[in-house]
Amino acid sequence: MKLTTKRLILRIPKTSDWKDIKEGVGDLDVSKTLSGAPYPYNKKDALAWINKVRKNWKIKHCDNLEFVIELKSENKVIGATGFDKIDRDLGSAESGSWIAKRYWRQGFITEAKTAINDWAFNKLKFQRLESRAFLTNTASNEMSKKYGYRFVGTLKRATKAKSTGKIHDVNIYELLKENRKKKFV
Ligand SMILES: CC(C)(COP(=O)(O)OP(=O)(O)OC[C@H]1O[C@@H](n2cnc3c(N)ncnc32)[C@H](O)[C@@H]1OP(=O)(O)O)[C@@H](O)C(=O)NCCC(=O)NCCS
Repeated sequence: MKLTTKRLILRIPKTSDWKDIKEGVGDLDVSKTLSGAPYPYNKKDALAWINKVRKNWKIKHCDNLEFVIELKSENKVIGATGFDKIDRDLGSAESGSWIAKRYWRQGFITEAKTAINDWAFNKLKFQRLESRAFLTNTASNEMSKKYGYRFVGTLKRATKAKSTGKIHDVNIYELLKENRKKKFV
């Protein structure tokens, strides 16, 4: 599975991607707003994630499908994005993502999500996406609002970040297919 945009390739991870993934998620500024990433983040963590994702892509109707985001100009993996808790019957899933800090605020997640969400809404026939962000995660909350996600509510003390051990309130957003903004999503 591979999707291509102007600057990016969204594809299934390869074992050799571990260094780039370790570099990206190994940065506490990235992992502190993710639930499941440990800190420090080692080679074995990156390889375990790669193996899990590769395995999932081989399972028919798997409820977790993730892509790495490769920057064409550098042949480098600069992030990851995808879907979890996929309910094929309902056409619904949760989406998540990260971009390595050096590449923040250059429109990369916008470009990546435009592609994978197009694919999910059109090919997988999704009709709803959910996005969750720690209350303190300005970038993710702003991004959801900018691209037309509806703020649903806040779950109090609902998640612990593995990297910091801190418990966070979590904002929930949802996007219905018909409410998508043109640029993103
Ligand atoms: C959230 C994240 C993926 C955004 O990726 P990105 O490639 O920098 O995002 P984009 O450049 O495409 O920005 C899209 C929009 O998000 C919002 N945004 C992104 N970073 C922001 C920031 N630091 N402050 C405020 N708004 C921000 C803006 O609305 C932005 O649009 P604009 O630049 O036209 O104003 C990135 O910050 C990240 O990886 N953070 C750490 C991991 C994480 O929190 N992942 C999400 C978990 S829910």
